[in-house]
Amino acid sequence: MKLSSFFYFARFGISTILFGREDPILGTIIVTDRCNLSCRHCSVNNLTSVMHPYEQLQQEMQQLYGMGVRILFFCGGETFLWRDGEKTLRDLVVEAKRIGFLIVNTVTNGTFPLDLPEADLILLSLDGDRERHNAIRGDTYDCIMENVKNAASDRICFYMAINQINKGAIRDVCQAARDIKQVRAVSFNFHTPYPDTQDLALSREEKAACCRLIAQMMDEGAPVFNLKSAFPALIDNTFPTPCRQCVVMENGKLSTCGRCVEVPDLCGRCGYFFVAEYTQLFRGNIKVLCEMLKTYLKYI
Ligand SMILES: C[S@@+](CC[C@H](N)C(=O)[O-])C[C@H]1O[C@@H](n2cnc3c(N)ncnc32)[C@H](O)[C@@H]1O
Ligand code: SF4
Ligand code: SF4
Repeated sequence: MKLSSFFYFARFGISTILFGREDPILGTIIVTDRCNLSCRHCSVNNLTSVMHPYEQLQQEMQQLYGMGVRILFFCGGETFLWRDGEKTLRDLVVEAKRIGFLIVNTVTNGTFPLDLPEADLILLSLDGDRERHNAIRGDTYDCIMENVKNAASDRICFYMAINQINKGAIRDVCQAARDIKQVRAVSFNFHTPYPDTQDLALSREEKAACCRLIAQMMDEGAPVFNLKSAFPALIDNTFPTPCRQCVVMENGKLSTCGRCVEVPDLCGRCGYFFVAEYTQLFRGNIKVLCEMLKTYLKYI
């Protein structure tokens, strides 16, 4: 991270904590909900299958930038499927950088060649060892690993959503993140139980066991891009929701926190680690603040 970006975020954090500001800093743009996969745990793929046009996405970027957002994520559907004429996801990332976003990341299922050297971080969904990943995501594990090895970027971070199918595969993903040179880290979430995937949710005790293992892996040197200090609130779902400093834009519609904000009773069962981490940070939790500084400077 550039020093100037670091000071920008430090100033934002301090003023948010001291004055209880609710201005956003992190924004996500959904480029399309079209997807080539149909994962067992996912409720947001292929609802409309519309590819949003480049000009519209450009305007959405400008709007978010104008609101103060400086960390931008592109998400989907599958982001690497996005096209408008000759334009691809890479053009969106380049445009976001030109507009002035300080960090530009994308989330992908990793089944397409990872030709995105301009992105600060490619969050690549890996949901276990071959067997458990494929049980959730179809027969994609080998293709993803091939793409990771041929990637035009070493800024890949595995992204694992832990659920009933893959809760036993945390160690495998930590080891893969440690051993593959193109991969910087792994970041975890717990399954967030949309109405059609409630059966995949973890109990409090299962979440606690996962957090103990992740913490142990961190102590053993696994590159984990999460904060141990946020684990207690994640296990008990006692962090405040939604996260006011995060917004998501989908087809011109702006929502606070995630597109899931309108799903009844979901926020109280939220499994997204970033929500637990950011909300506690902006409430002035010193432990989270110190750990975040250390972790973000290491991986971004
Ligand atoms: C919706 S996908 C879109 C990007 C891309 N298609 C992918 O799979 O990475 C973004 C991330 O959300 C995760 N995800 C989907 N449904 C979830 C849920 N109910 N709870 C937690 N994470 C979920 C996916 O595993 C993926 O890592
Ligand atoms: S690849 Fe991503 S968007 Fe597609 S079904 Fe899987 S989790 Fe959902
Ligand atoms: S707090 Fe609510 S809106 Fe935010 S990510 Fe969690 S479930 Fe979605």
